Amino acid sequence: MVGEVVGRVIESRSTRYPVGATVVAGYGWRTHGGVHEDEKHTLPTAQLRTVPEDFPKDLSTGLMLGVTVMPGMTAYFGLHDVCQAKAGEIVLVNAAAGAVGSLVGQIGKIKGCKVIGCAGTDEKVNWLRELGFDYVFNYKTGSLDEELKTAAPEGIDCYFDNVSWGDLSVSVLNNHIKVHGRVACCGSISTYNNPEAKGVEAAGVLWRGVTGGLARGCHTGDDMNRGVNPGKVKYKEHVTSGFDQTPQALIGVLTGGNTGKAIVKV
Ligand SMILES: NC(=O)c1ccc[n+]([C@@H]2O[C@H](COP(=O)([O-])OP(=O)(O)OC[C@H]3O[C@@H](n4cnc5c(N)ncnc54)[C@H](OP(=O)(O)O)[C@@H]3O)[C@@H](O)[C@H]2O)c1
Repeated sequence: MVGEVVGRVIESRSTRYPVGATVVAGYGWRTHGGVHEDEKHTLPTAQLRTVPEDFPKDLSTGLMLGVTVMPGMTAYFGLHDVCQAKAGEIVLVNAAAGAVGSLVGQIGKIKGCKVIGCAGTDEKVNWLRELGFDYVFNYKTGSLDEELKTAAPEGIDCYFDNVSWGDLSVSVLNNHIKVHGRVACCGSISTYNNPEAKGVEAAGVLWRGVTGGLARGCHTGDDMNRGVNPGKVKYKEHVTSGFDQTPQALIGVLTGGNTGKAIVKV
């Protein structure tokens, strides 16, 4: 999983990144870092980027780790470019109360889709209802096939898979996806902490969509900012305090402890 950081420049000889500027980069877990202003990374989201000056002061800078950057872009390009979801189509997303999933559902609604979401607790399911998802269910209780049959008797057009979880994917792909349906293999979170598991290591399928869209990345950020400002796109942050608590925060993500974007505040 990519560890992105947002912080302030405290010492600088660069005009591009002056002291006081807020910057974001995918450098992994750290309290401090040094970088040359021309440093290039193969992973585009690892690049040092400044937070736009007009970023509203009353919004959480945590949004630069969530809605407006990597998870937001993943949701946006995954649904738009990879799934090519259109108004009237039916979208299913899992880990739907997480950073990416909650945005997939909301972007799907903005695009005029019918959105189905599943999550692992009733509390999360209730939040998905508040976000405007059309059909929500707790995948840990009840029958997946029955839920999907009720949610989309006509079948699913777009399956946005954050989890690579066999039971759900088998049910969707065997019984519910429509002919010419599309699947965004976004992530395999069910396999990250399980050496026995064979996940679909196909995050690359979506990465191609994301990196292909990076030229439009800043526009996406703008779109998402515009969505957040008037309250159109809703979000939650699950904040853990203290750098030494970072491993616990990660374990929380792998065990369903977070709703929305998991953030460690240093
Ligand atoms: N391809 C890309 O470009 C890209 C970019 C960003 C993220 N990703 C991937 O997208 C996925 C979601 O990322 P995120 O940042 O939005 O994380 P997140 O939603 O914060 O992920 C955590 C949620 O996933 C669910 N989960 C965890 N373990 C699970 C398991 N074994 N089975 C089923 N569900 C499980 C839990 O929710 P429940 O309580 O609902 O189970 C947990 O709260 C991850 O797989 C991540 O690696 C890919």
